[in-house]
Amino acid sequence: MQSEFAVELRDVVKQFVTPEGNLLNAVDHVTMQIKNGEFFSMLGSSGCGKTTSLRMIAGFEWPTEGEVYIEGKPMGHTPPFQRKVNTVFQNYALFQHMTVYQNVAFGLEMEGADKNEIEKRVKRALEMVQLTGMERRKPRQLSGGQQQRVAVARALVKLPDVLLLDEPLGALDLKLRKEMQLELKALQQELGITFIYVTHDQEEALTMSDRIAVMSKGKVMQMGTPVEIYERPANRFVADFIGESNFLEGKIKSVSADEASVFVPALNAELSGVPMSKDFVNGEEVVISIRPEKIRIVDADAEKDGVFRAKVINSIYIGSDTHVFLDCNGVRLKVMEQNHISRLDPHSFYHKDQAVGVYLIPENTLVLKKEA
Ligand SMILES: Nc1ncnc2c1ncn2[C@@H]1O[C@H](COP(=O)(O)OP(=O)(O)OP(=O)(O)O)[C@@H](O)[C@H]1O
Ligand SMILES: [Mg+2]
Repeated sequence: MQSEFAVELRDVVKQFVTPEGNLLNAVDHVTMQIKNGEFFSMLGSSGCGKTTSLRMIAGFEWPTEGEVYIEGKPMGHTPPFQRKVNTVFQNYALFQHMTVYQNVAFGLEMEGADKNEIEKRVKRALEMVQLTGMERRKPRQLSGGQQQRVAVARALVKLPDVLLLDEPLGALDLKLRKEMQLELKALQQELGITFIYVTHDQEEALTMSDRIAVMSKGKVMQMGTPVEIYERPANRFVADFIGESNFLEGKIKSVSADEASVFVPALNAELSGVPMSKDFVNGEEVVISIRPEKIRIVDADAEKDGVFRAKVINSIYIGSDTHVFLDCNGVRLKVMEQNHISRLDPHSFYHKDQAVGVYLIPENTLVLKKEA
């Protein structure tokens, strides 16, 4: 029976002895299940263990503990070429002296495939990445985005069930990167193969993925859909790492099934109906997280539940948005406002020390454990 999971990591540890003589768990008890046909991303900052995890799936490294399964089979020490996965490396690793055609054909030639078969498959792979007609160019005669597509074609030509991509767009400028994100996502959907994608760019992960594993220091901090991760971060680390968050200290007053009432000293008020993603107990010290775009600035004298007094520290105009920093009883709050009307008059913007009201809607906030 075919496994539901394309790839599974069960309690995988990868330990390195660093040249400095220390033991390091580069991957620290990681468990993830990646479904067939899924676009799955590992997201985390530099050194959190993304490449190491990918290399263990590919078979370039073996776990110190735990096991990697591909299509339900434990991989043990199976070498890379016997795994139905292929890797697109961060630096493309194209052969500079070979043409596009030769680069893509190389892996098949090494396997000893016959000439007609190679021709057919290279043609199809180049069609997939829209490089038909460029067969005779050398990598240096291509743009960065085209080189990147050659790297993808070279991996696709072997018809892998799973494609592993290690920061494949890292070298491209922002605009091209955004185009390629959509192209790669469309290609993945069209082919229906599983993509395991490594990036440290949160927007990229949110744009492309069905599910994301947020990693830090070798551990998975949260796994979920982009919406789950953004709207219901499991802890303070994720709330801070994905997007931006304001954090207010508070204390639990009461809890129901999935909501809490929290006293927040900075507001000198109790917020009720605050969603929570974990269990809390009465009296527990917590933090409330609030996204900058979910706070509204209202008139200073607005009399309404959920409106608190604040003062403008400064405001920064960045074209599409204005970022406003507020002082709310000594706590700094960041608010993002979309500039949905054109205005030039400097007086229409917030000014330092302006008294304002901040409107916090409890259902747009979240209770988190105080410790990261
Ligand atoms: N062969 C090795 N020997 C010793 N330490 C290693 C080795 N390979 C990786 N490490 C360490 O393991 C940790 C994880 O490295 P890894 O390459 O997986 O990070 P990463 O998440 O891919 O980071 P980046 O975003 O910078 O590529 C790092 O602290 C790194 O220094
Ligand atoms: Mg890496």
